[in-house]
Amino acid sequence: MHLSSILSFGAVASVAYANSFPGFSVASDSISTIKNILSQYCIILDTKTYPDLSKVYTADAVADFTTIGLGVLSGLPAIEAAMNKSLFGIPTQHGMTTSYVSDISEKSANATSYYTLQQFGTGNNTGQLFTVWGKWVDTLVFENSTWKVKTRDVVAMGGPLIGNFIVPTH
Ligand SMILES: *[C@@H]1O[C@H](CO)[C@@H](O)[C@H](O)[C@H]1NC(C)=O
Ligand SMILES: *[C@@H]1O[C@H](CO)[C@@H](O)[C@H](O)[C@H]1NC(C)=O
Ligand SMILES: *[C@@H]1O[C@H](CO)[C@@H](O)[C@H](O)[C@H]1NC(C)=O
Ligand SMILES: *[C@@H]1O[C@H](CO)[C@@H](O)[C@H](O)[C@H]1NC(C)=O
Repeated sequence: MHLSSILSFGAVASVAYANSFPGFSVASDSISTIKNILSQYCIILDTKTYPDLSKVYTADAVADFTTIGLGVLSGLPAIEAAMNKSLFGIPTQHGMTTSYVSDISEKSANATSYYTLQQFGTGNNTGQLFTVWGKWVDTLVFENSTWKVKTRDVVAMGGPLIGNFIVPTH
């Protein structure tokens, strides 16, 4: 299918949607953009390409990682440094599942996303796993033609952390 026909199909589909839910076609595009940015966060952490966190967080973002021991991180440099410090040398897989975007307006939105962080043991700990379950409760802003996280609360979910604590935590 040519790009132009995909786009026109999308336009027809969103007009149809907008007829039943006025204004929603615009919001649904923001929802996919926001979810994509939150997914990119997982990839940035797992590839340890921390400078790219600037694509996810605003320069003045405040991220509260208190529940997993990193405190309140104010500003992009503090966030980058804390991620590098806590994940240094640890292969990881961040998975994002449930992701609910709400309260969208032209310039702001809220999102709650569940995540699972697997940390894989290396060397003598090869085969060991350490798992963290939590959710990100985010507020986002639309600036410079893109959505970014302005505040993030990291909330721990449920029961005990699972796995081998020999694998460094966070
Ligand atoms: C938008 O761009 C301006 C100028 O580069 C910058 O000062 C500002 O921090 C940017 N806003 C966000 C949310 O990244
Ligand atoms: C990342 O953390 C390691 C270990 O603490 C440190 O040696 C290194 O300089 C840090 N890298 C950056 C770019 O901050
Ligand atoms: C968005 O989330 C923030 C922080 O959790 C909350 O204070 C605010 O009321 C929410 N916005 C709306 C429109 O519900
Ligand atoms: C791995 O285990 C061996 C045998 O117990 C030990 O000699 C070695 O120091 C350990 N290596 C590391 C990096 O802990």
